[in-house]
Amino acid sequence: MYSRIIGTGGYLPEKILTNLDLESMVETSDEWIRERTGIQQRHIAADGQTTCDLAEQASNRAIEMAGIDASTIDLIIVATTTPDKTFPSTACLLQQRLNIHGCPAFDVQAVCSGFVYALSVADQFVKTGMSKRALVVGAETLSRITDWSDRNTCVLFGDGAGAVLLEASEEPGILSTHIHADGQYEELLHVPSGVSKLPSADTVAERSMQMKGNEVFKMAVNTLSRIAKETLEANGMQKEDIDWLVPHQANLRIIMGTAKKLKLTEDQTVITVHKHANTSSASVPMALDEAIRDGRIQRGQTLLLEAFGGGFTWGSALIKY
Ligand code: ACO
Repeated sequence: MYSRIIGTGGYLPEKILTNLDLESMVETSDEWIRERTGIQQRHIAADGQTTCDLAEQASNRAIEMAGIDASTIDLIIVATTTPDKTFPSTACLLQQRLNIHGCPAFDVQAVCSGFVYALSVADQFVKTGMSKRALVVGAETLSRITDWSDRNTCVLFGDGAGAVLLEASEEPGILSTHIHADGQYEELLHVPSGVSKLPSADTVAERSMQMKGNEVFKMAVNTLSRIAKETLEANGMQKEDIDWLVPHQANLRIIMGTAKKLKLTEDQTVITVHKHANTSSASVPMALDEAIRDGRIQRGQTLLLEAFGGGFTWGSALIKY
Protein backbone atom coordinates (compact mmCIF):
# COMPACT_ATOMS: atom_id res chain seq x y z
CA MET A 1 0.00 0.00 0.00
CA TYR A 2 1.23 3.50 -0.87
CA SER A 3 0.21 7.06 0.03
CA ARG A 4 -0.57 9.03 -3.12
CA ILE A 5 -0.88 12.79 -3.36
CA ILE A 6 -4.42 13.66 -4.47
CA GLY A 7 -4.41 17.39 -3.72
CA THR A 8 -2.16 20.28 -2.71
CA GLY A 9 -2.75 23.84 -1.56
CA GLY A 10 -0.77 26.87 -0.52
CA TYR A 11 -1.54 30.19 1.10
CA LEU A 12 0.43 33.38 1.74
CA PRO A 13 -0.97 36.24 3.82
CA GLU A 14 -1.73 39.44 1.88
CA LYS A 15 0.77 41.82 3.43
CA ILE A 16 4.14 41.91 1.64
CA LEU A 17 7.35 43.19 3.22
CA THR A 18 10.00 43.88 0.56
CA ASN A 19 13.75 44.15 0.97
CA LEU A 20 13.34 47.89 0.41
CA ASP A 21 10.91 48.04 3.35
CA LEU A 22 13.55 46.32 5.49
CA GLU A 23 16.14 48.91 4.49
CA SER A 24 14.19 51.41 6.55
CA MET A 25 13.97 49.07 9.54
CA VAL A 26 17.55 47.74 9.93
CA GLU A 27 21.02 48.41 8.51
CA THR A 28 20.72 46.26 5.38
CA SER A 29 20.28 46.56 1.62
CA ASP A 30 18.22 44.91 -1.09
CA GLU A 31 21.48 44.01 -2.82
CA TRP A 32 22.95 42.28 0.27
CA ILE A 33 19.79 40.23 0.87
CA ARG A 34 19.44 39.17 -2.79
CA GLU A 35 23.10 38.24 -3.17
CA ARG A 36 23.36 36.22 0.05
CA THR A 37 19.92 34.60 0.05
CA GLY A 38 18.01 35.14 -3.22
CA ILE A 39 15.12 36.59 -1.18
CA GLN A 40 13.21 39.59 -2.57
CA GLN A 41 10.18 39.76 -0.31
CA ARG A 42 8.25 37.96 2.43
CA HIS A 43 4.58 37.82 3.43
CA ILE A 44 3.55 38.75 6.96
CA ALA A 45 0.36 37.65 8.75
CA ALA A 46 -1.98 40.51 9.68
CA ASP A 47 -2.56 41.39 13.35
CA GLY A 48 -4.77 38.66 14.73
CA GLN A 49 -4.19 36.32 11.78
CA THR A 50 -2.91 33.03 13.17
CA THR A 51 -1.08 29.94 11.97
CA CYS A 52 -4.42 28.07 11.94
CA ASP A 53 -5.95 30.76 9.71
CA LEU A 54 -3.20 30.19 7.14
CA ALA A 55 -3.43 26.40 7.52
CA GLU A 56 -7.19 26.52 6.93
CA GLN A 57 -6.80 28.41 3.63
CA ALA A 58 -4.11 26.02 2.34
CA SER A 59 -6.13 22.97 3.44
CA ASN A 60 -9.29 24.16 1.71
CA ARG A 61 -7.34 24.62 -1.52
CA ALA A 62 -5.93 21.07 -1.25
CA ILE A 63 -9.40 19.66 -0.51
CA GLU A 64 -10.82 21.54 -3.51
CA MET A 65 -8.09 20.25 -5.84
CA ALA A 66 -8.69 16.66 -4.67
CA GLY A 67 -12.44 17.12 -5.09
CA ILE A 68 -13.21 15.23 -1.90
CA ASP A 69 -15.59 15.80 0.98
CA ALA A 70 -13.56 17.02 3.98
CA SER A 71 -15.49 14.67 6.27
CA THR A 72 -13.71 11.70 4.61
CA ILE A 73 -10.33 12.84 5.98
CA ASP A 74 -9.31 10.43 8.76
CA LEU A 75 -5.99 11.91 9.93
CA ILE A 76 -4.77 15.50 10.35
CA ILE A 77 -1.13 16.36 11.06
CA VAL A 78 0.06 19.96 11.26
CA ALA A 79 3.78 20.70 11.25
CA THR A 80 4.39 23.99 13.02
CA THR A 81 6.81 25.72 15.37
CA THR A 82 4.49 28.68 15.79
CA PRO A 83 1.22 27.14 17.03
CA ASP A 84 -1.79 29.38 17.79
CA LYS A 85 -1.81 28.29 21.41
CA THR A 86 0.26 26.11 23.74
CA PHE A 87 -2.74 23.81 23.51
CA PRO A 88 -4.98 22.57 21.93
CA SER A 89 -2.70 21.66 19.05
CA THR A 90 -3.11 23.63 15.85
CA ALA A 91 -4.20 20.35 14.22
CA CYS A 92 -7.18 20.16 16.60
CA LEU A 93 -8.06 23.81 15.89
CA LEU A 94 -7.83 23.09 12.15
CA GLN A 95 -9.98 19.97 12.50
CA GLN A 96 -12.74 22.08 14.06
CA ARG A 97 -12.43 24.75 11.31
CA LEU A 98 -12.82 22.07 8.65
CA ASN A 99 -15.84 20.63 10.51
CA ILE A 100 -14.23 17.21 10.82
CA HIS A 101 -14.88 15.34 14.07
CA GLY A 102 -13.32 12.29 15.70
CA CYS A 103 -10.26 11.51 13.58
CA PRO A 104 -6.77 11.76 15.14
CA ALA A 105 -5.26 15.25 14.89
CA PHE A 106 -1.88 16.29 16.23
CA ASP A 107 1.05 18.64 15.66
CA VAL A 108 4.61 17.74 14.75
CA GLN A 109 7.43 20.09 15.69
CA ALA A 110 10.66 19.76 13.72
CA VAL A 111 11.05 23.39 12.66
CA CYS A 112 12.02 23.67 8.94
CA SER A 113 11.96 19.87 8.55
CA GLY A 114 8.48 19.74 10.07
CA PHE A 115 6.56 19.06 6.89
CA VAL A 116 8.86 16.22 5.81
CA TYR A 117 8.55 14.76 9.33
CA ALA A 118 4.75 15.05 9.21
CA LEU A 119 4.64 13.50 5.74
CA SER A 120 6.75 10.61 6.98
CA VAL A 121 4.42 10.04 9.97
CA ALA A 122 1.30 10.22 7.78
CA ASP A 123 2.87 7.80 5.29
CA GLN A 124 3.36 5.23 8.08
CA PHE A 125 -0.32 5.58 9.06
CA VAL A 126 -1.45 5.06 5.45
CA LYS A 127 0.94 2.19 4.72
CA THR A 128 -0.20 0.27 7.80
CA GLY A 129 -3.88 0.78 6.97
CA MET A 130 -4.57 3.07 9.97
CA SER A 131 -5.50 5.94 7.68
CA LYS A 132 -7.04 6.10 4.22
CA ARG A 133 -7.05 9.86 3.67
CA ALA A 134 -4.57 12.07 5.50
CA LEU A 135 -4.26 15.85 5.52
CA VAL A 136 -0.66 16.98 6.11
CA VAL A 137 -0.05 20.70 6.64
CA GLY A 138 3.00 22.88 7.20
CA ALA A 139 1.99 26.29 8.57
CA GLU A 140 3.92 29.08 10.27
CA THR A 141 3.76 32.64 11.51
CA LEU A 142 7.51 33.03 12.01
CA SER A 143 7.06 36.81 12.04
CA ARG A 144 5.86 36.34 15.65
CA ILE A 145 9.23 34.93 16.77
CA THR A 146 11.38 37.30 14.71
CA ASP A 147 13.39 40.11 16.25
CA TRP A 148 12.69 42.88 13.74
CA SER A 149 15.70 44.83 14.99
CA ASP A 150 18.17 41.96 14.29
CA ARG A 151 19.39 42.15 10.70
CA ASN A 152 21.08 38.74 11.02
CA THR A 153 17.70 37.01 11.13
CA CYS A 154 14.82 39.35 10.24
CA VAL A 155 15.61 39.46 6.52
CA LEU A 156 15.37 35.68 6.22
CA PHE A 157 11.89 34.67 7.35
CA GLY A 158 8.21 34.96 6.40
CA ASP A 159 4.73 33.52 7.05
CA GLY A 160 2.74 30.99 5.00
CA ALA A 161 1.09 27.57 4.81
CA GLY A 162 1.06 24.57 2.50
CA ALA A 163 -1.09 21.44 2.57
CA VAL A 164 -1.04 18.00 0.97
CA LEU A 165 -3.81 15.39 0.88
CA LEU A 166 -2.68 11.78 0.81
CA GLU A 167 -4.82 8.79 -0.10
CA ALA A 168 -4.17 5.06 0.27
CA SER A 169 -3.51 3.52 -3.15
CA GLU A 170 -2.16 0.35 -4.75
CA GLU A 171 -0.32 2.59 -7.21
CA PRO A 172 3.07 4.00 -6.17
CA GLY A 173 3.07 7.37 -4.44
CA ILE A 174 5.51 8.01 -1.57
CA LEU A 175 8.36 5.56 -2.22
CA SER A 176 10.31 6.26 0.97
CA THR A 177 10.84 8.86 3.67
CA HIS A 178 13.97 9.44 5.75
CA ILE A 179 14.06 11.56 8.89
CA HIS A 180 16.91 12.37 11.28
CA ALA A 181 17.84 14.62 14.19
CA ASP A 182 20.90 15.57 16.23
CA GLY A 183 20.26 17.66 19.33
CA GLN A 184 23.87 18.64 19.92
CA TYR A 185 23.53 21.75 17.74
CA GLU A 186 20.79 23.41 19.82
CA GLU A 187 22.65 26.70 20.22
CA LEU A 188 23.29 27.24 16.50
CA LEU A 189 19.62 27.86 15.74
CA HIS A 190 17.02 28.32 18.47
CA VAL A 191 14.55 30.49 20.34
CA PRO A 192 15.98 30.85 23.87
CA SER A 193 12.64 30.97 25.69
CA GLY A 194 9.57 28.76 25.69
CA VAL A 195 6.73 27.47 27.81
CA SER A 196 9.01 25.83 30.37
CA LYS A 197 12.32 27.65 29.86
CA LEU A 198 12.43 31.37 30.67
CA PRO A 199 8.61 31.48 30.70
CA SER A 200 8.64 35.10 31.76
CA ALA A 201 11.20 36.20 29.15
CA ASP A 202 10.60 39.88 28.61
CA THR A 203 13.17 40.78 25.96
CA VAL A 204 12.34 40.46 22.30
CA ALA A 205 15.70 38.77 21.71
CA GLU A 206 14.87 36.00 24.19
CA ARG A 207 11.55 35.36 22.48
CA SER A 208 13.00 35.37 18.95
CA MET A 209 15.06 33.19 16.64
CA GLN A 210 18.81 33.29 17.25
CA MET A 211 21.13 31.85 14.64
CA LYS A 212 24.78 31.37 13.78
CA GLY A 213 24.02 31.72 10.07
CA ASN A 214 27.39 30.73 8.70
CA GLU A 215 27.58 27.48 10.63
CA VAL A 216 23.97 26.60 9.85
CA PHE A 217 24.69 27.20 6.17
CA LYS A 218 27.62 24.76 6.07
CA MET A 219 25.76 22.08 8.02
CA ALA A 220 22.69 22.44 5.79
CA VAL A 221 24.55 21.98 2.48
CA ASN A 222 26.54 18.96 3.70
CA THR A 223 23.62 17.27 5.41
CA LEU A 224 21.23 17.76 2.49
CA SER A 225 23.69 16.15 0.07
CA ARG A 226 24.05 13.19 2.44
CA ILE A 227 20.32 12.66 2.77
CA ALA A 228 19.81 12.84 -0.99
CA LYS A 229 22.39 10.07 -1.39
CA GLU A 230 20.77 8.00 1.38
CA THR A 231 17.35 8.36 -0.28
CA LEU A 232 18.54 7.33 -3.75
CA GLU A 233 20.48 4.35 -2.39
CA ALA A 234 17.48 3.13 -0.38
CA ASN A 235 15.46 3.02 -3.61
CA GLY A 236 18.20 1.66 -5.90
CA MET A 237 18.01 4.86 -7.94
CA GLN A 238 20.55 7.17 -9.57
CA LYS A 239 20.67 10.97 -9.68
CA GLU A 240 19.34 10.81 -13.25
CA ASP A 241 16.11 9.19 -12.03
CA ILE A 242 14.99 12.38 -10.26
CA ASP A 243 12.76 14.67 -12.30
CA TRP A 244 12.28 17.40 -9.69
CA LEU A 245 14.01 18.58 -6.55
CA VAL A 246 11.48 20.22 -4.20
CA PRO A 247 13.74 21.65 -1.49
CA HIS A 248 13.11 23.56 1.71
CA GLN A 249 13.23 27.22 0.70
CA ALA A 250 15.71 28.82 3.12
CA ASN A 251 18.36 30.30 0.91
CA LEU A 252 18.95 30.13 -2.85
CA ARG A 253 22.62 29.31 -2.32
CA ILE A 254 21.75 26.29 -0.12
CA ILE A 255 19.17 25.13 -2.68
CA MET A 256 21.52 25.42 -5.66
CA GLY A 257 24.39 23.86 -3.68
CA THR A 258 22.25 20.76 -3.13
CA ALA A 259 20.95 20.74 -6.72
CA LYS A 260 24.48 20.92 -8.08
CA LYS A 261 25.60 17.93 -6.01
CA LEU A 262 22.64 16.02 -7.49
CA LYS A 263 23.59 17.20 -11.00
CA LEU A 264 20.17 18.84 -11.28
CA THR A 265 19.74 22.11 -13.16
CA GLU A 266 17.77 25.15 -12.07
CA ASP A 267 15.05 23.95 -14.47
CA GLN A 268 14.59 20.79 -12.40
CA THR A 269 14.57 22.59 -9.06
CA VAL A 270 11.45 24.24 -7.68
CA ILE A 271 12.46 27.67 -6.37
CA THR A 272 10.01 29.94 -4.54
CA VAL A 273 12.25 31.44 -1.85
CA HIS A 274 12.52 34.81 -3.66
CA LYS A 275 8.77 35.35 -3.23
CA HIS A 276 8.25 34.44 0.42
CA ALA A 277 11.64 33.90 2.16
CA ASN A 278 12.01 31.03 4.66
CA THR A 279 8.57 29.94 5.86
CA SER A 280 9.97 26.96 7.77
CA SER A 281 7.60 23.95 7.64
CA ALA A 282 5.36 25.64 5.04
CA SER A 283 8.04 25.99 2.38
CA VAL A 284 8.17 22.47 0.93
CA PRO A 285 4.39 21.98 0.52
CA MET A 286 4.01 25.52 -0.91
CA ALA A 287 6.76 24.85 -3.49
CA LEU A 288 5.19 21.50 -4.35
CA ASP A 289 1.77 23.11 -4.76
CA GLU A 290 3.09 25.85 -7.02
CA ALA A 291 4.89 23.45 -9.38
CA ILE A 292 1.90 21.08 -9.54
CA ARG A 293 -0.57 23.90 -10.23
CA ASP A 294 1.53 25.53 -12.96
CA GLY A 295 2.01 22.15 -14.68
CA ARG A 296 5.76 21.76 -14.20
CA ILE A 297 5.32 18.63 -12.08
CA GLN A 298 3.43 15.96 -14.02
CA ARG A 299 1.87 12.64 -12.97
CA GLY A 300 4.39 9.79 -13.14
CA GLN A 301 7.41 11.98 -12.39
CA THR A 302 9.83 11.31 -9.53
CA LEU A 303 10.23 14.03 -6.90
CA LEU A 304 12.83 14.43 -4.18
CA LEU A 305 11.62 16.55 -1.25
CA GLU A 306 14.21 17.58 1.33
CA ALA A 307 14.55 19.86 4.34
CA PHE A 308 16.94 20.90 7.09
CA GLY A 309 16.21 22.93 10.18
CA GLY A 310 16.53 23.70 13.87
CA GLY A 311 17.19 20.76 16.15
CA PHE A 312 19.06 20.04 14.01
CA THR A 313 16.50 18.02 12.12
CA TRP A 314 16.60 16.92 8.51
CA GLY A 315 14.63 14.68 6.21
CA SER A 316 13.62 13.68 2.71
CA ALA A 317 10.87 11.97 0.78
CA LEU A 318 11.05 10.28 -2.61
CA ILE A 319 7.71 10.43 -4.36
CA LYS A 320 6.25 9.08 -7.59
CA TYR A 321 3.68 11.78 -8.29
N1 ACO B 1 22.37 43.08 5.86
C1 ACO B 1 23.62 43.50 5.73
N2 ACO B 1 24.65 42.91 6.35
C2 ACO B 1 24.40 41.84 7.11
C3 ACO B 1 23.09 41.34 7.29
C4 ACO B 1 22.06 42.02 6.62
N3 ACO B 1 20.77 41.61 6.71
N4 ACO B 1 23.14 40.27 8.08
C5 ACO B 1 24.41 40.07 8.41
N5 ACO B 1 25.19 41.03 7.84
C6 ACO B 1 26.62 41.21 7.93
C7 ACO B 1 27.23 40.53 9.11
O1 ACO B 1 27.10 41.33 10.27
C8 ACO B 1 28.67 40.38 8.67
O2 ACO B 1 29.32 41.59 8.88
P1 ACO B 1 30.84 41.63 9.46
O3 ACO B 1 31.64 40.87 8.44
O4 ACO B 1 31.12 43.09 9.52
O5 ACO B 1 30.77 40.95 10.77
C9 ACO B 1 28.56 40.17 7.17
O6 ACO B 1 27.25 40.60 6.81
C10 ACO B 1 28.77 38.75 6.73
O7 ACO B 1 27.98 37.89 7.53
P2 ACO B 1 28.00 36.35 7.32
O8 ACO B 1 27.15 35.74 8.39
O9 ACO B 1 29.39 35.82 7.17
O10 ACO B 1 27.30 36.23 5.91
P3 ACO B 1 26.92 34.93 5.10
O11 ACO B 1 27.52 34.99 3.76
O12 ACO B 1 27.15 33.69 5.90
O13 ACO B 1 25.36 35.11 4.91
C11 ACO B 1 23.34 34.21 5.86
C12 ACO B 1 24.53 35.14 6.04
C13 ACO B 1 22.53 34.72 4.68
C14 ACO B 1 22.52 34.24 7.13
C15 ACO B 1 23.84 32.78 5.55
O14 ACO B 1 24.81 32.41 6.48
C16 ACO B 1 22.74 31.80 5.56
O15 ACO B 1 21.84 31.83 4.73
N6 ACO B 1 22.76 30.82 6.50
C17 ACO B 1 21.72 29.82 6.59
C18 ACO B 1 20.73 30.33 7.54
C19 ACO B 1 19.37 29.80 7.32
O16 ACO B 1 18.88 29.63 6.23
N7 ACO B 1 18.72 29.51 8.44
C20 ACO B 1 17.37 29.17 8.43
C21 ACO B 1 17.05 28.04 9.25
S1 ACO B 1 17.89 26.61 8.80
C22 ACO B 1 17.34 26.35 7.34
O17 ACO B 1 16.19 26.60 7.09
C23 ACO B 1 18.25 25.80 6.40
